[in-house]
Amino acid sequence: MIRKLLEWLGFVAPKDEEWQETKGELVIRPMTYSDLDEVARLERMCFGLGAWSRGAFASELKRGQRSYFVVARINEVLVGFAGWRQEGEEAHVANIAVHPQMRGRKIGELLLRSILEEAVRRGLNSSLLEVRKSNLVAQNLYRKYGYKVLTIRRAYYQFPLEDAVIMKLEDIRTALASVPPPPVNARIVSSTTE
Ligand SMILES: CC(C)(COP(=O)(O)OP(=O)(O)OC[C@H]1O[C@@H](n2cnc3c(N)ncnc32)[C@H](O)[C@@H]1OP(=O)(O)O)[C@@H](O)C(=O)NCCC(=O)NCCS
Repeated sequence: MIRKLLEWLGFVAPKDEEWQETKGELVIRPMTYSDLDEVARLERMCFGLGAWSRGAFASELKRGQRSYFVVARINEVLVGFAGWRQEGEEAHVANIAVHPQMRGRKIGELLLRSILEEAVRRGLNSSLLEVRKSNLVAQNLYRKYGYKVLTIRRAYYQFPLEDAVIMKLEDIRTALASVPPPPVNARIVSSTTE
């Protein structure tokens, strides 16, 4: 009962058997307001007390062309999301997460690629982000795409308190051309190609 409540709130992942249905084609498409309840639940599951609220995602969607957020679904089940907001001439990667039971299957990489591709289409060719110092998995993903450490911002994160590593990718277009896309059956629908 308590586990069910925690699952519903998004603080723990549903048990394995509930994930049988997630086999099938991976679809990545722009996030809409109708995704937000599920997105907020997955966000809590991935980031706990440091999670963005549903309202924070809604604010990003309200920014229109100045932000770009996508969801990844398999058979309509939400398995991840990612997004950037435009800051000056840069795409600031503001959020990226994959369901705990779906990690290590290149979904995070495809999400990152798809939002970076859209940044280029919208005329943004550099990207900035911050990541927890201890989050080596995410840092590996960013390094794979050519992000380099710019600086450390002390005590940037709360819950728990931790430094942020600020990483920058100078040339998105070159990075995308130099890393082959992962061999995953995926359909990417972008706001500019739909
Ligand atoms: C970071 C995250 C999005 C990666 O998504 P994922 O789907 O599991 O990652 P992928 O399978 O696409 O892997 C892509 C790359 O990430 C890195 N990576 C993924 N899993 C890793 C692991 N267990 N150990 C080390 N590096 C790893 C690798 O560079 C990998 O490329 P490679 O397989 O060619 O080596 C996912 O782990 C996640 O949701 N974490 C929690 C939320 C989070 O920390 N978000 C980032 C906030 S800044």
